[in-house]
Amino acid sequence: MDRIRIIGGQPLNGVIPISGAKNAALPLTIASLLSSETLTLKNVPNLADVNLLTRILRNHGVDLSVDGKRAGSNGYLGETFHLTARDIVDTTAPYDMVSRMRASFWVLGPLLGRCGEAKVSLPGGCAIGTRPVDLHLMGLEALGADIRIDNGYVLAKAPGGLKGARVIFPKVSVGATHNVLMAAVLAKGETVLENAAREPEIGDLATCLNKMGARIEGIGTSTLHIQGVTNLEGATHTVLPDRIETGTFAMAVAATGGEVLLKDTSIDLLESAINILIEAGVEITPEEGGIRVRQMNGGPSPVSVETQPFPGFPTDLQAQLMALMTRAEGTSTIRETIFENRFMHVQELARLGADIQLNGELATIRGRTQLKGAEVMATDLRASVSLVIAGLVAEGETTISRVYHLDRGFERLEEKLRNCGASIERLAG
Ligand code: EPZ
Repeated sequence: MDRIRIIGGQPLNGVIPISGAKNAALPLTIASLLSSETLTLKNVPNLADVNLLTRILRNHGVDLSVDGKRAGSNGYLGETFHLTARDIVDTTAPYDMVSRMRASFWVLGPLLGRCGEAKVSLPGGCAIGTRPVDLHLMGLEALGADIRIDNGYVLAKAPGGLKGARVIFPKVSVGATHNVLMAAVLAKGETVLENAAREPEIGDLATCLNKMGARIEGIGTSTLHIQGVTNLEGATHTVLPDRIETGTFAMAVAATGGEVLLKDTSIDLLESAINILIEAGVEITPEEGGIRVRQMNGGPSPVSVETQPFPGFPTDLQAQLMALMTRAEGTSTIRETIFENRFMHVQELARLGADIQLNGELATIRGRTQLKGAEVMATDLRASVSLVIAGLVAEGETTISRVYHLDRGFERLEEKLRNCGASIERLAG
């Protein structure tokens, strides 16, 4: 298994291009199931999760062709996917695929909407929390689906087609909003989704669906009104920039010091995280086509943060902020309110010398600590990248194992950091 070796202590200076958002590319790719015509997606990041999803979709009958060179001269332009689901040949999503990537469970809504039936494996366990799917099923049942759980599979049927309904989510869920939204666009009549997630990736999916002929209003708000249509057409859509990658690199610069232009991204996608960085004393300047991040005056100031659904501080940046706060002079607190087990990086950061106390959902970080290089293990995607940030500031050598977690969601991570002066390399093995 590959490992990453970092020699810490170098500031970051230069330009980092931000890729298309993984968490938008996944539902957008799934949306191809809704039409027999071609959906063209631009700026798709080349990531293990996206590649796995395309394998799952091929199984359902989606034909994929890819263009856009990624290596060398073509810079970081994302790939262009042409996805055509002329016929759905199989409405089953098997366990061995869904269990490897939870977002593939979101094929349930579109398959049901288009074919009137679907058999999708329950996703199973997850490292960061229990992550049930009750809200997905509740929403689809409200649209008239008959749902049974059998042998670990969700068996869903709507022989006469789905019917529009009012769905009030008792809790904000990104996945349930994606799933039920994709089902509702082909339901008869009007669906209203209340307390829907407002993450920019939901807006990106809804915008693309509208380009395909769906009729969705209220994009960007927590109430989505959907007038069902009988079929969707082909369309072309560009995946929005990855706000989590943006925030991650901003925090890396804030930790190491230096000045980096994060290119092809926008401050509007992550205001809460940017505000926290500003509160911590990091200089952030929006520029045309990017964000300049500068940290010249020693370490950041401590902050107190609670993770929340958008527009609050994202749980997907919690681990990275924790690594950064080991650099702050004083005590910081981070409360994780979205996932109950998303602190697995704490023990690994402690191996590097961090002083972090855990009490239920609250982490208290005492700084400033001079981290020291060690061998650490990646546990999930965002936890892994927090170890990279810690490694960049630690004295000496840090090696991170199980880096396949990083490959799920960060495109060309080492290259982007190396281009800004970091000493980071991948060790094959
Ligand atoms: C999405 O996961 C993201 N994944 C996650 O990013 C992100 O951390 C999460 O939203 C929160 O922002 C993708 O977009 C592919 P949820 P999702 O449904 O949709 C509970 C990453 O690293 N819940 O919004 O699975 C759930 O347990 C990943 O890129 C129910 O109780 O998250 C959690 O506590 C990790 N019942 C909360 O809601 C349900 O039916 C929010 O989960 C569904 C969710």
